[in-house]
Amino acid sequence: TGHTTLDYGFVNTAATKSAITYIDGDEGILRYRGYPIEQLATNSTYLEVAWLLLYGELPTADQLGAFDERIRRHTLLHEDLKRFFSSLPHTAHPMSVLSSATAALSTYYEGQSDPNNPEHVELNTIRLLAKLPVIAAYAHKKSVGQAFLYPDNSLSFVDNFLRLNFGVMSEQYEINPVMSRALERLLILHEDHEQNASTSTVRLVGSTGANQFSSISAGINALYGPLHGGANEAVLDMLARIRDSGESVQRFVERVKNKEDGVKLMGFGHRVYKNYDPRAKLVKESADEVLTELGVHDPLLDLAKELEDIALNDDYFRERRLYPNVDFYTGVIYKAMGFPTRMFTVLFAIGRLPGWLAHWREMQNDPQTKIGRPQQLYTGSPRRDYPGV
Ligand code: CMC
Repeated sequence: TGHTTLDYGFVNTAATKSAITYIDGDEGILRYRGYPIEQLATNSTYLEVAWLLLYGELPTADQLGAFDERIRRHTLLHEDLKRFFSSLPHTAHPMSVLSSATAALSTYYEGQSDPNNPEHVELNTIRLLAKLPVIAAYAHKKSVGQAFLYPDNSLSFVDNFLRLNFGVMSEQYEINPVMSRALERLLILHEDHEQNASTSTVRLVGSTGANQFSSISAGINALYGPLHGGANEAVLDMLARIRDSGESVQRFVERVKNKEDGVKLMGFGHRVYKNYDPRAKLVKESADEVLTELGVHDPLLDLAKELEDIALNDDYFRERRLYPNVDFYTGVIYKAMGFPTRMFTVLFAIGRLPGWLAHWREMQNDPQTKIGRPQQLYTGSPRRDYPGV
């Protein structure tokens, strides 16, 4: 059309209106449905925030109780789906396992996944919230070669998840309340972030009329990349590499500044936050607290702090307004909890799931929604003839 503007990476283009999350990147503000992230992270729970994102208001005690109960009743995976895991190599990255198993879930609910049927949408929202943490934990168990546990529905959402990840068949699993609260807080911090790459993917796929399972599976794949959710894993790999190479932090930062081999300071920079990421502030506080309370001393945390100090005082990072983002300190905490590095992005996905679902539903209910279909500016050859014609 005559109005096409070129906007690589959608830096200036809004693709939708949304009433879910508010961000002011210059001021470092993040609010879900109007509530400041700091207040939710300290006082709320994962499921309460999920309700808030999905339905727009904080639930009453009865509403939250019924929601929690319904989710507990949907945690079991079909036994056939459990066998799906054995067809994948034990070296499989848990993010690939999670996205494939999520896509596979839809095969169990064919005929019950009509995006225009509110009962189906409601039921599949519950199914996804209940079953994805179980799939995530099984992806973990598979990677360490341990048996899958059945969910214990007498436990809270987060405690059930911890037990599925770290419990072993024959033993009673002791919930560590410090770990449980810290994980809940991290999950809340990840629950939504408006039109980021994975959420935009969920919306784009959903705009074609695809069901929730297909849309969420696509979102998981978008999150997997190192510039997005994969950054939390990449940060830990980066810190471990610096430690093992014996290279000084200063020298590493020089290589980043010289863009040697395209090396970036993972966990730094953000498309929207040009001031400190408010989530990073909360995670950094947690990192010290949680490691102390769990009695873990990790030299990688010291290395991360040294790296942050050097970067924050360096003109390259200052001029480009690059600050730590949410992914910079999360990995150190997940590691202290005992999660393998390759599970970090899976934890991000479980955190983000309520946001993806809320956006999918908002899009579905918006009468303005059309199939997502960007324009292009053609730069190829003009018309030419096939040889001999
Ligand atoms: N290390 C070194 N230089 C950087 C970094 C970094 N982490 N991030 C941006 N820059 C430089 C970039 O090279 C460019 O410099 P120049 O103007 O000289 O070419 C300038 O800063 C502007 O960067 P940009 O790539 O145009 O910024 P963007 O908004 O397109 O990218 C980003 C945002 C998050 C993809 C990017 O900052 C990045 O790659 N960061 C590292 C990966 C990361 O931590 N991602 C997690 C994001 S937060 C949560 C999530 O989504 O998972």
